[in-house]
Amino acid sequence: MKALILSGGTGSRLRPLTYTGAKQLIPVANKPILHYAIEAIRDAGITDIGIIVGDTRAEIERNVGDGTQFGVHVTYIPQDAPLGLAHAVKIAEAFIGGDEFLMFLGDNLVRDGVRAFAEQFTANRPNSLILLSRVPDPQRFGVAEIDEFGKIKRLIEKPKVPPSDLALVGVYLFDHHIFDAVKAIAPSPRGELEITDAIQYLIDSGRHVEAHVIDGWWKDTGKPEDMLEANRMMVEAIATRVDGSVDERSQIIGRAVIEAGATIENSMVRGPVVIGAGAVIRNSYIGPFTSISQGVQVIGSEVENSIILQDTVIDCIPTRIDSSLIGKNVHISQVQERPKALTFVLGDNSRAQVQ
Ligand code: G1P
Repeated sequence: MKALILSGGTGSRLRPLTYTGAKQLIPVANKPILHYAIEAIRDAGITDIGIIVGDTRAEIERNVGDGTQFGVHVTYIPQDAPLGLAHAVKIAEAFIGGDEFLMFLGDNLVRDGVRAFAEQFTANRPNSLILLSRVPDPQRFGVAEIDEFGKIKRLIEKPKVPPSDLALVGVYLFDHHIFDAVKAIAPSPRGELEITDAIQYLIDSGRHVEAHVIDGWWKDTGKPEDMLEANRMMVEAIATRVDGSVDERSQIIGRAVIEAGATIENSMVRGPVVIGAGAVIRNSYIGPFTSISQGVQVIGSEVENSIILQDTVIDCIPTRIDSSLIGKNVHISQVQERPKALTFVLGDNSRAQVQ
């Protein structure tokens, strides 16, 4: 079996972070989302992975390389324009050949991995296996209508009036019949070839499509709130490891990863928290569910339930920073001079909330 990871999306709902970087490389618990997908696929025993890439190809290639660091072999498949998930399948046909494959959307996180689904597919041999998850907001997803025996009646992409709360998870298994389907369907109203329509085509042409309702945690990390939730879920799973230096005036409560070269001085860290290499936490409080990337400095400030990316400086902010997603190399500081005012240099589509 091969795998196909879709990593071509533009991440419009994660602007401004995605103006300068690929959304699939935004870290949760200090690890890029895309790495979780690669590791889940590898742990399912699949080592031949195609990655569909778009405008952010160079950055993704730089980060993932040929896959050796993960124990897999990666082939990059460029998609000229974001024409949909089914279009991505279409252009991957030469790579997949006649093999069965697992398709994984590069911005999805499945906490318990995908091994069990690959095994179910191999054991039952349907033409496709799709995963469903109950969600409170099905109109944001592809939605399945199933009968009382769990058989799929219909799949609809982002319905205004959802027939159920069963969303399509961004992990799918297919055999070669999917290639006929992606060639037969027409673009949706949003101008994309939808994988949902391709699977509906399989159903309509009498192919066997099996659905599996997952009960483990799953997230499509499309929006900043989703990123923070994903981060909470992933830092929850860490085991304490302190390789950095923690002085005697500091206190670490609960689980924390403090990487080599990080320094904690006169501060309180209340886990679960991860603090990256070379970060400096001084006279500060780092609260639960926070990921501090490498080289970040938090001085005289309080941060909780947030993701702070590489080399950002948070200096003497009098109010606790909470539920925030802050990009690389950002500088937030308090000035003492008058007039007392807030001063911003924010990128397009930034959000700042002050009290
Ligand atoms: C895509 C699929 C949708 C699926 C979702 C899962 O949506 O089209 O059916 O439920 O991924 O993440 P998109 O992220 O392209 O809006």
